Amino acid sequence: MRAFSERSSIGHAMSSRFVAGMTIDDALAACEHVNREGIAATLDALGESVTSEAQARASADVYHQLIDAISARGLNANVSVKLSQLGMDFDPALAEQIVGEMVEHAAYVNTFVRIDMEGSPYTDATLAITERLHARPGCQGHVGTVLQAYLFRTALDAERLLEQGIRIRLCKGAYKESPQIAFPLKQEVDDNYVKLMKRLATSGVFCGLATHDEAIVDQMLAFVREEHLPPSAFEFQMLYGIRRDLQRKLAKLGFGVRVYIPFGPEWYPYFMRRLAERPANVLFLLKNVLKT
Ligand code: FDA
Repeated sequence: MRAFSERSSIGHAMSSRFVAGMTIDDALAACEHVNREGIAATLDALGESVTSEAQARASADVYHQLIDAISARGLNANVSVKLSQLGMDFDPALAEQIVGEMVEHAAYVNTFVRIDMEGSPYTDATLAITERLHARPGCQGHVGTVLQAYLFRTALDAERLLEQGIRIRLCKGAYKESPQIAFPLKQEVDDNYVKLMKRLATSGVFCGLATHDEAIVDQMLAFVREEHLPPSAFEFQMLYGIRRDLQRKLAKLGFGVRVYIPFGPEWYPYFMRRLAERPANVLFLLKNVLKT
């Protein structure tokens, strides 16, 4: 299914709702578009679970081109990367070396690398690598990672990262996790998200609140008013193609908004996670493809 979908024109038409295109130029065009609306971007060259050093280095090469383009074009953007895309599954030292080179490049041109968080087998290593890179001379403030509100451990992880001044993107979490380590009920995840988001927004460390959940966004807006927080204390983050109305509304209200822009031929796992989150999207996409 994956191989067929990634190569077929129907697959491309379906994925275009959530994926900005297949090439670096497509991603940069999408980035320029959102920048013109006062919205920042983070660019994700899709790919995960590579199985050879050559594939890992090829992924990194795309990121180095993105970092150069962000700098050359003066874009309001940074990059997001997954460690499994850089060889984490077969050679963690290689993945750390490759992401380290990316962070040094990003620091040199004054941009930022966000290390996305994958399933729980990666949590410890992702945090440890982020912390080591952040401690490298010149790299402080140029690397951060993601914490997931569905994991029991997240409040403790957040405190440790905040102590070091490491920027956190807070999301609910997109992988299937066991009830031994994660809240099984959506309401529990949402409650934990709200608790953590308030902690991050008042921490003094610039953090990203990644959610499309309007009830939570509204709670954040109320919290900003109660606490007299400046809009510069945090930013909202949302995915390309999801709740564009809310993205624009928040930007117009003067809040920082960053859109996660994924692109590239290996869009299938990302796309399937988005459909799983909201099965209504399957019907919506099919209707649109049949119309075209
Ligand atoms: P939730 O799923 O609770 O739904 C609330 C409402 O949001 C829905 O009723 C609907 O209106 C809207 N919505 C949510 N998803 C939608 C969709 N697919 N299509 C249409 N509407 C939708 N996860 C992870 O594990 N590691 C990571 O590194 C990241 N990174 C990341 C970056 C950014 C910028 C975002 C926004 C999200 C992530 N995620 C992630 C994904 C995250 O963990 C989570 O799975 C999704 O954001 C869905 O959760 P929400 O809080 O958005 O809404």
